[in-house]
Amino acid sequence: MCGIVAYSGKQDCAKLIIEGLKKLEYRGYDSAGISLQKDNKIITLKALGRVDNLEILVNKEKGQCFCAIGHTRWATHGKPCVENSHPHNDCHNQISIVHNGIIENYASLKAELEAKGHIFKSQTDTEVVAHLIEENLKTLDFTHAFCQTIKQIRGAYAICALYVKEPGKIMVAKNQSPMVLGVAKEGVFLASDVPAFLEHTNKAVFLEDGDIAQIEGPFYKIFDAELKEQTRKVNEVNWDFTTAQKGGYAHFMLKEIHEQPQSAQDTLLTLKAGLKDSFGLTKEEAKKIKGIYLVACGTAYHAALCAKYMLEDYAQIPVEVETASEFKYRKIAFCKDWLFIAVSQSGETADTIAAIKNAKAAGLKVMSVCNVLGSTITRLSDITLYTHCGPEISVASTKAFTSQLVVLYSFALNLSFALGHLEKASFDKFYTSLEKLPKLMKQVLVQEEKIKQIAKKIYAKNDFIFLGRNSAYPIALEGALKLKEISYLHAEGFAAGEIKHGPIAVIEEGTPVLALVAKGPLEEKMLSNCQEVKARGAALITISDDMALTDAVQVPFEQEFLFPILSAIVLQFFAYYIAVFRGRDVDRPRNLAKSVTVE
Ligand code: AGP
Repeated sequence: MCGIVAYSGKQDCAKLIIEGLKKLEYRGYDSAGISLQKDNKIITLKALGRVDNLEILVNKEKGQCFCAIGHTRWATHGKPCVENSHPHNDCHNQISIVHNGIIENYASLKAELEAKGHIFKSQTDTEVVAHLIEENLKTLDFTHAFCQTIKQIRGAYAICALYVKEPGKIMVAKNQSPMVLGVAKEGVFLASDVPAFLEHTNKAVFLEDGDIAQIEGPFYKIFDAELKEQTRKVNEVNWDFTTAQKGGYAHFMLKEIHEQPQSAQDTLLTLKAGLKDSFGLTKEEAKKIKGIYLVACGTAYHAALCAKYMLEDYAQIPVEVETASEFKYRKIAFCKDWLFIAVSQSGETADTIAAIKNAKAAGLKVMSVCNVLGSTITRLSDITLYTHCGPEISVASTKAFTSQLVVLYSFALNLSFALGHLEKASFDKFYTSLEKLPKLMKQVLVQEEKIKQIAKKIYAKNDFIFLGRNSAYPIALEGALKLKEISYLHAEGFAAGEIKHGPIAVIEEGTPVLALVAKGPLEEKMLSNCQEVKARGAALITISDDMALTDAVQVPFEQEFLFPILSAIVLQFFAYYIAVFRGRDVDRPRNLAKSVTVE
């Protein structure tokens, strides 16, 4: 997730773009860049870190500029460094582009372009777009060369491009990444999000997937891929700035719950774009793996617990899961041919870092699943598999959690295939199901109002029980943690089979019990547990992918292994609305920090 801001019109725009990028830093902030079109040149400036560092360079520029494109980066391909920052240019600095998303087929395109003599300066997927336009300009004008380029790339993208020979014109393409036009009196803004231009205009035109736009401020045209003109509604956005940063949602947490289809999709696309044999491990290395240590904290620990079931079921490999704070003090007789995997959204959790150092000292290969490229944990790891959620602002982790599961499930399927436990046909079937996740998540998100109404009935309670079996048991733990950390209420997750060994004693008249009833061999047992708690007066709420359970909050069924991810979204909504009804500071809950960098 990156931030794009561009402008073409009658206003001197360098400062407009810098201010706009600052308002989008919540979308990424490891580097920033701008291309200024002036004096028949394209001047590209880049700086590591925050937009302030770029502003210092821009302030040194003399003269005015009426057309420019800017970008603040959340690194996905290629580490955070000036060379990998956007904008990216072609071989002769005639073209400049900024991009938000993932070019899935970049590797093959890059190879073809290098064979034609193109010299690449970065490790990013984005740079191929600039060189493709350059190649197409040999036979087409800028507009058609840009359209031809868009036909050649696959993936998620929002792209803005400049061409030195057509000053004032910005070509734009949008597919699965956001791009909105801000229609002002004297010019047109382009941005990933409304806050970038809201102080200049509240007239917003939201581009749709497949749209191509040609901006020559204050005019703009929108086309489809065949350059057939399209009309898009001009919306009046009446949000204040803070609300706009939250995309109109009341809290970042709610926005990030709704971003999960996008983050799951971006993560899946990146895994596919970078697909190697079982993720950074050669087949020979994969075959040597005799077991896996999975280590993490908090929500990431619950993702690790979920992955344990997947790895044991599909890769048929022993897995040991431990919280990092416990792992680092255990006297473990490490098995040298076990793989150590750390899971962390921030990549800066002190306990997880300490556990990694212990594993490295024991000579284990270390893999991490992380959301922040260049963070400490990624630099300590031999291999890192990235989630692609963009910055997760709310303290309560939501989109990072489901994307961690996407990565870990993908790894488990690849490892299973590499170890010969899955035939290619079965691998393809399961992977195709995994790739349906963004669509399935959207079917859960539309139940928000129903979940809100149920939460309204139970928010005044003080004790909440979550039950699950097998891979839904970690989701019971996660649902309890989400509720605890933002509502400050007592909530506990249990393996449902355990309640008769003690916990059922806490159930009394009206105790809310949220039961995760997954279709499959354990469904009947879960339903018995539901009857047991109901008989003792529990206010039972079931979450299920069995459409026959009509009184449940239903999630769609695709594959058994997807139930944990989809049911987690339901529990995120429950936690969110109970906390809201309790009047809590949802995004900044008391006593907590987004990243626990102390042991
Ligand atoms: C999750 O909602 C919490 N904010 C917390 O448990 C978090 O998951 C934990 O601190 C681990 O953080 P990390 O993923 O950045 O390592």
